[in-house]
Amino acid sequence: MVIQWYPGHMAKAKREVSEQLKKVDVVFELVDARIPFSSRNPMIDEVIQHKPRVVILNKKDMSNLNEMQKWYAFFKEKGAMPVAVDAKHGKGLKQVENAAIEVTKEKFEREQAKGLKPRAIRAMIVGIPNVGKSTLINKLANRAITQTGNKPGVTKQQQWIKVGKSLQLLDTPGILWPKFEDQTVGKKLSLTGAIKDSIVHLDEVALYGLNFLIQQDYEGLKNFYKIEVEPDSEPLEWFDAIGRKRGLIQRGNEVDYEAVIELVINDIRNAKIGTYCFDLYHEMRDL
Ligand code: G4P
Repeated sequence: MVIQWYPGHMAKAKREVSEQLKKVDVVFELVDARIPFSSRNPMIDEVIQHKPRVVILNKKDMSNLNEMQKWYAFFKEKGAMPVAVDAKHGKGLKQVENAAIEVTKEKFEREQAKGLKPRAIRAMIVGIPNVGKSTLINKLANRAITQTGNKPGVTKQQQWIKVGKSLQLLDTPGILWPKFEDQTVGKKLSLTGAIKDSIVHLDEVALYGLNFLIQQDYEGLKNFYKIEVEPDSEPLEWFDAIGRKRGLIQRGNEVDYEAVIELVINDIRNAKIGTYCFDLYHEMRDL
């Protein structure tokens, strides 16, 4: 579902998430492991404040482990416990519970010292659309709880889901808006399918993806499309070669660039060419 974010919606989403946060001991900030920084809500620190936080890098099956490890270190340094999961295939879920125990340990020790009875850790998931919030909730609950593609903010009727031995999770996630100020971030969000509408032009998205792959995985790109193109060739030559190889030709024996652009974007989005982390840690500024 495409959500239009207007200032009023953002304020409402922020208010609703802040309200829900009061009920929980720990926040699970869900990001896309292919863009661990670009898929964060721009005001996330202001929303979460000092609440214990686990940053869940979801879709790890589609990302690059080396680069993800640099992001783990980054999040750790910021005081948030990082874990990587593949919610779709149910991988790494146990770590989520363990991380929640770890970040709330002191709080519960304090409660026990005051004589309070042991109780389950309460948690909620927060993140921008399409990072896999509903998929993760369903997997953690071991059953279908939420429909994928829900509305911004948090719906009213909420329930706690029991997860493992020590966790209770809110069945509805907090949905916050993505970053849309920065063009490069916009291209990455589109390339990973976080935004499917055309805030950014698709030709620019395909070009960005192609350039990334030429630099990071030239051999993989060439082999996937079974084409021979020099690494320093113009992007148009790549599009031409891909179009001709795949028979994406229109009248006059011209390459159908629109079809090539769609193909390349889908192949990258679905991790068909390879698994990449588009947020290269060393290239990111202003962290
Ligand atoms: P949201 O609630 O945050 O908006 O995200 P949602 O769970 O709807 O997931 C968005 C898409 O991401 C879904 O794909 C979902 O299957 C996919 N996804 C979620 N987690 C993972 C993961 O760990 N690995 C992979 N590879 N994919 C994941 P979809 O194409 O919209 O639906 P479907 O065709 O998969 O059902």
